[in-house]
Amino acid sequence: LSSTEVDLSQVAEGQMITVKWRGKPVFVWNRTPDDIAKSKATEISVLLDPVARNANLPLDALATDENRAAEGEGHEKWLVVIGICTHLGCVPIGHMGEYDGWFCPCHGSEYDSAGRVRRGPAPENLAIPPYHFVSDTKISIG
Ligand code: FES
Repeated sequence: LSSTEVDLSQVAEGQMITVKWRGKPVFVWNRTPDDIAKSKATEISVLLDPVARNANLPLDALATDENRAAEGEGHEKWLVVIGICTHLGCVPIGHMGEYDGWFCPCHGSEYDSAGRVRRGPAPENLAIPPYHFVSDTKISIG
């Protein structure tokens, strides 16, 4: 099993980069305070998929911003998600759509600033891969 290290010091506030992990695109986003505030203000009851889909948490964890963002002091700005639409596998486009996250060009699904699906046909939130911080500015995915 291979892992991918990502140097977060190269990702400016507001910037989203794409890295490869096991052949899949993974989006790493340094969210702005506004992106975070909008996500936190979203009630679970309005989500199409209320489950966190975070490989680092229990399967039944709810899709709060806290459970979607990186864990740990000062890490909440980081969002790390697998860049594959949960409908039929297209790669969504970042910073697009009505919900400040991603827009999938294939059939119009939209994701918010926590990578949660807000408009179908995608059935699930963007999946969060297993990852952890190896230092304050570096994560290891996988
Ligand atoms: Fe993304 Fe269908 S593959 S909406």
